[in-house]
Amino acid sequence: MSAGARQDAARDFPPGPEPDIIRASAPSLSNHRTVNHHRIAVIDFGGQYAHLIATKIRRRGVLAEIRQPEDPVEAFLPYRGIVISGSPSLASHGEDSAYTKEIYDLDVPILGFCFGHQEIAKHYGGTVVHGGREWGRALLHVLETEHPLFAGLDPVEQVWMSHYDSVTALGPGFRELGYTVTGGGDEHRFAAIGSDVHRRYGFQFHPEVDDTLHGEEMIANFVLRVCGCRPTWSMEAYLDTIVDRVREQVGDRSVFLLASGGVDSTVAAVILGRALGPERLHLLHIDNGLMRLDESAQVLKMFAELRLDRNLHFVDASEDFLRALEGVTDPEEKRRRIGNTFVEVFQREARRLGIERHLLGQGTIYPDTIETGGTRRADTIKTHHNRVPVIERMIAEGRVVEPLAELYKVEVRELGRKLGLPDEAIHRHPFPGPGLGVRLLCSDGREDRAGLAGAEEALPAVAARFGLRALALPIRSVGVKADLRAYEHPVLLTGEAPWERILEAVSAITKTVPGINRCVLNLSGEHPRRARVLPAGVTRARLETLRRADAVVMDALRRFGLDRRVWQCPTVLVPLALDDADGETVVVRPVRSERAMTATPVDLPPEVLRHLRDELLALEGVGAVALDVTSKPPGTIEWE
Ligand code: XMP
Repeated sequence: MSAGARQDAARDFPPGPEPDIIRASAPSLSNHRTVNHHRIAVIDFGGQYAHLIATKIRRRGVLAEIRQPEDPVEAFLPYRGIVISGSPSLASHGEDSAYTKEIYDLDVPILGFCFGHQEIAKHYGGTVVHGGREWGRALLHVLETEHPLFAGLDPVEQVWMSHYDSVTALGPGFRELGYTVTGGGDEHRFAAIGSDVHRRYGFQFHPEVDDTLHGEEMIANFVLRVCGCRPTWSMEAYLDTIVDRVREQVGDRSVFLLASGGVDSTVAAVILGRALGPERLHLLHIDNGLMRLDESAQVLKMFAELRLDRNLHFVDASEDFLRALEGVTDPEEKRRRIGNTFVEVFQREARRLGIERHLLGQGTIYPDTIETGGTRRADTIKTHHNRVPVIERMIAEGRVVEPLAELYKVEVRELGRKLGLPDEAIHRHPFPGPGLGVRLLCSDGREDRAGLAGAEEALPAVAARFGLRALALPIRSVGVKADLRAYEHPVLLTGEAPWERILEAVSAITKTVPGINRCVLNLSGEHPRRARVLPAGVTRARLETLRRADAVVMDALRRFGLDRRVWQCPTVLVPLALDDADGETVVVRPVRSERAMTATPVDLPPEVLRHLRDELLALEGVGAVALDVTSKPPGTIEWE
């Protein structure tokens, strides 16, 4: 479309708000009292990362708001630019193609990522096919380094890929702005495309994830240079917005908050205290029996130090949780039961204290919602404990207060700092609500060989290319591939290879070997001939073994000064015995991340690995030790 035609198209629409500076209105994020902000719309097609795009834009001082694909075109008039997110849908198959296409008639720049990139290519006469999939890191070769989208960036940039479909031809007016080269040396065309006439652009990669090293700059270039937005939004302004919203929602009622001691619920507690006053805030800390060594005692001490203990209640409900988990092996069923037990215990305590009419407070953050499939299109990767059906019902009835539900961990920490929380509270490693429950894999003792035959055939040759030996394991763990839940097998790798080479091997294996979503590196000795599955449930004895293993790992990270470099480090007990060993296998999973939506494994120094191996093998019930070397995607941070 020519610039003139674009303007005609824009004139066809009813007059919108004044196009330059828009007066923000409730209940959007723009509900800050005095400032008028330039805004960007992020269309959420259900990719894992739509909200992440909004966050990255806000971090650059521009207000970004999530919009749905079927919102009427008028809803898009207040924005100076539009970003179209990725999606689990396939553009090649025409999936999810019934969205508001009139956005393409608007006279504002549009940038699409992954599915959004493919939709833009298609709309303007290009071709998208099913194939050419890539996962993980790739190198983007920028063909037009002068283009405003790539201002200040290198000619070759590390980017992050997660797709099945690819653009193979462009329509009139579009040109290729960059192509990618992946680990094995394969070239993928049209990784970045654009038309300055239409002001439409697309990236096959995900600039919003932290593994696209300068992705935030690319997004900022679009927002500030291409759309011309003025950066006026800030976290302080947002804090005022949250406090206002809490007051509005709660009215003259009170809140009963589930407080695990993690940074999310602790920041939520401080905000609720600020909004409502200490009298109207009750905290409940539940020991679910799935906590770390001495965790509850430390949490109660921390609340006292933060002076959040005026209405602090504590209950040891470990019996309830163990009973609910008896005989359950399926990961999603375990999550549901843990979530439901939280609600039952909470309701029982509320009745006992005579405060059952209080609203339920939770420190839910955005990834909890998106991974539970909580936006209309997102696939359920894993059900988070604060998103089980009973809670969803309470949310629908307006009985749940979640002040942080739009934020990521890194933003929660920033808020925590602004609220004056001490460093130890802010920098505690994230610990999942279901605790060790999702790190204690269970089995009925039978080998789980679903989809393993193809893997076993293809695996040895791929691993040998990297000088490694590989054994596909007859159990499964949760992962995420191209925005969809993957429940697939891990592979145990044995051999000496440089770290980068190991990562290349993992990338090649998870990409090309069917049914594999994770790789672990054998730390305990010879390559095993086989792995035996042991019958194992959630028992006090196994929890005790895992608790001690977790304490060994966390102590080691502190002792070697690695607890900041490592963002989170689950320790997982897997009911597998290698060869003739008696004990189970402990997997250590140190990752680097910022928002938990993506993660990369951490290369621990050899002396730390030796220390971990020796200390863990010395524990009763442990027969083997392995290091998880998988990025997210394709493996999630937790194993269940
Ligand atoms: P995954 O395993 O999905 O985890 O990559 C992403 C982040 O979320 C944490 N996690 C949870 N946190 N309730 C929580 O409060 C849950 O049910 C839950 N499941 C995972 C996980 O530890 C990581 O930081």
